[in-house]
Amino acid sequence: MNCSPFSIATLLLLAFAQEASAAAPSSASSSAEPLSAAAAGFVQYDPAKVMGPDSCTKCHENEMLAWRETPHFATFETLHRMPEAKAIADRLGLRSVKRNDECTKCHFTMQEENGRDRVIAGVSCESCHGAGRDWIEMHADYGGPTITKALESPEHRAARIEQSIAAGMNNPANLYLVARQCLACHTSPNERLVNVGGHAAGTPEFELVAWSQGKVRHNFLHTGGTANTPSSPERLRVMYIVGVLADLEASLRATAAASEQANFGVAAAQRAARQKRRLYEISQLVENPHVAAAMEAALGARLKLNNREALLAAANEIGRQAYEFAATADGAKLAAIDPLLPTPAQYK
Ligand code: HEC
Ligand code: HEC
Ligand code: HEC
Ligand code: HEC
Repeated sequence: MNCSPFSIATLLLLAFAQEASAAAPSSASSSAEPLSAAAAGFVQYDPAKVMGPDSCTKCHENEMLAWRETPHFATFETLHRMPEAKAIADRLGLRSVKRNDECTKCHFTMQEENGRDRVIAGVSCESCHGAGRDWIEMHADYGGPTITKALESPEHRAARIEQSIAAGMNNPANLYLVARQCLACHTSPNERLVNVGGHAAGTPEFELVAWSQGKVRHNFLHTGGTANTPSSPERLRVMYIVGVLADLEASLRATAAASEQANFGVAAAQRAARQKRRLYEISQLVENPHVAAAMEAALGARLKLNNREALLAAANEIGRQAYEFAATADGAKLAAIDPLLPTPAQYK
């Protein structure tokens, strides 16, 4: 077994001064609906409700073309041919990369057909935006056949977005909903995959702005389909903070899942400590009740083995705060964090 020189206890000390604050507050949430999935951990989408990327094309051709240039698209054709994938599968005793849930849930899109899940694409639209069956019509309905985007009332728009979220859409109107999906795959909650399979322990250098505004970017609506430009500086500030919160949440979940002091647990605790430091930096620069509450929750959970309940409680609370932050934050008031943001040259 590959042991790191750091014990999780040392990492705890390295993290930064841990105030012995009270246990994470577990206040009841008002927006329980979309968050129950996060609270359950690694729920991504229901294969029975997956429509497949082709069902989005007729209205989102630009997005489709951008997606086809990404590693998310390519992994469908490349992964099972990689010797490294075979080696990981062998170590785990799996016969097929394409047929095993342990690999497909992060590398492919699954669709249920006649009671069986099959893989239909790489990481596709619904891997990030949620399985579409229950929202595909409603998310684009401005209020009837004669109503155009320009004629839609603000109330109808708000209700439409809210209903699409309630129906399972990870609508980027709330960036946390999409960020949570990125992190579900880019931080592995699966200890065996890492410690036995030898798979990378997530993507340690992940950062939402840099990772979403480069090759993964598809951003056409705000220019009426004419250009694929990065999001506005105001939105990127919100995105940066949401990314840190979602990363911290996911890393705490991974730390909670660790049962031994090996690669998986150490990487998870290190990552959680790093995100905690980032959140601390943010909390020093901006005054926001959700950032403050998330920071307090993070301080209440020690990064060590056998601390599952406290770590999960903190993760749940941070997820709730991240959702509320994303729903309410005004990027125009967050200019103080600009020095923390990646520059366009750093976009992946
Ligand atoms: C019948 C046409 C149509 C289909 C099919 C369709 N969409 Fe859309 N979609 C739209 C329109 C129109 C908008 C813009 C809504 C607006 O103006 O707020 C939109 C917006 C979106 C948004 C952005 C929401 C926001 O507020 O930022 C996402 C994400 C999205 N669609 C994903 C998908 C996915 C994924 C699929 C396939 C499962 C899909 N759509 C299928 C028409 C469609
Ligand atoms: C928790 C989600 C998750 C699961 C489960 C998962 N992977 Fe991965 N895998 C990833 C991510 C994310 C990357 C990209 C890591 C990076 O480079 O940042 C990756 C990368 C890889 C790579 C390197 C690909 C490359 O292009 O460099 C291989 C090989 C691989 N995975 C094989 C597997 C196999 C085999 C399984 C099943 C036994 C599996 N993975 C299960 C998320 C996952
Ligand atoms: C369903 C799982 C899944 C989701 C959700 C997901 N990814 Fe990935 N991502 C992967 C895998 C797997 C790879 C590696 C593909 C490969 O190389 O074979 C990857 C690769 C990438 C890469 C390319 C990295 C490189 O080294 O070139 C970027 C950038 C990226 N993801 C960003 C994102 C962002 C941003 C989000 C959310 C908006 C996201 N991903 C959501 C699974 C996922
Ligand atoms: C890796 C995760 C990921 C995948 C895969 C993905 N999206 Fe997105 N999508 C996002 C994120 C993140 C945003 C918000 C980006 C921003 O605000 O800068 C977004 C925004 C959008 C928007 C609104 C912005 C625009 O393009 O006008 C639409 C529409 C959309 N996605 C549709 C799709 C469709 C259709 C597919 C499949 C062809 C797809 N997405 C695949 C993560 C993803």
